[in-house]
Amino acid sequence: MIAPHSSATPAARPAVRKAVVPAAGLGTRFLPATKATPKEMLPVVDKPAIQYVVEEAAAAGLEDILMVTGRHKRAIEDHFDNAFELEQALAAKGDTVRLDAVRDPARLADIHHIRQGDPLGLGHAVLCARHHVGNQPFAVLLGDDLIDARETLLSRMLEVREAHAGSVVALMEADPEQIHLYGCAAVEPTDEEGVVRVTGLVEKPAPGTAPSRYAVIGRYVLDPAVFDVLERTPPGRGGEIQLTDALQDLAAGGTVHGVVFDGLRYDTGDKADYLRTVVRLACARPDLGPEFTAWLKEFVADLEDDEADGRDGHRAA
Ligand code: G1P
Repeated sequence: MIAPHSSATPAARPAVRKAVVPAAGLGTRFLPATKATPKEMLPVVDKPAIQYVVEEAAAAGLEDILMVTGRHKRAIEDHFDNAFELEQALAAKGDTVRLDAVRDPARLADIHHIRQGDPLGLGHAVLCARHHVGNQPFAVLLGDDLIDARETLLSRMLEVREAHAGSVVALMEADPEQIHLYGCAAVEPTDEEGVVRVTGLVEKPAPGTAPSRYAVIGRYVLDPAVFDVLERTPPGRGGEIQLTDALQDLAAGGTVHGVVFDGLRYDTGDKADYLRTVVRLACARPDLGPEFTAWLKEFVADLEDDEADGRDGHRAA
């Protein structure tokens, strides 16, 4: 069925249907775990990190997802494919719960894979998606940033794209000591709550030079105009072609907005944050949460006792 169409400007804009998930990084921060396993496949409770990202895109209505992978990333393709023998074995046992868990990833969306070839940076990974995306707006979701499933950040960004056209980035206020780890945006307010105009962007500013406290987090809704800009974007910070640099070009033309997010975001690219993410999500799970939370409280109480006794907290748990 063809959806009714109004000729009013916002509704006439092409809806965003496709998402790009760059997943070609080497995952060096998690070695040796990532020697033979892609970092995107590290489990967060009992699902690989990248499944949460695909679930988020699907929940926002994006039905076509392109993974931009590299060498040694076959496990990602297998995860989002059918697993015939496993499914047969579970079906024969009548284990419908696990059968659904195995089938779910392949049912989330129409998932495609291409390879980046040369690891030339995030901007280059996005450029690799050009042929698949075509001349349509599209979303980009970075796998290291998990946004809690109860949040609606991506849907809000899609609304802002529909209202204003151009490109939209997700921004979060960061501690001034942390901002050099992110792309950073110079912004001006708009009359819309939580929406800013982005006037400039800088990738990982040197300490003391950040234009604001607004960090770009790993969600973008991009106008296809970004592809032409990426084609001519030279290597930037770290010798890589940076998406932030291409967006700076678009921001100078006044076509980039930011959605300010203050909800639950987990950075699974950092070891300590990865551990915090697993604990938080395990506590929130109805099947695991009650038992795990009770254990966690006891564990923390024991640690506190040990600390008070001057011991180092290494006890069997
Ligand atoms: C990338 C982007 C950076 C952004 C960050 C969000 O950096 O280049 O602008 O702030 O993701 O997680 P990376 O963390 O991949 O070095």
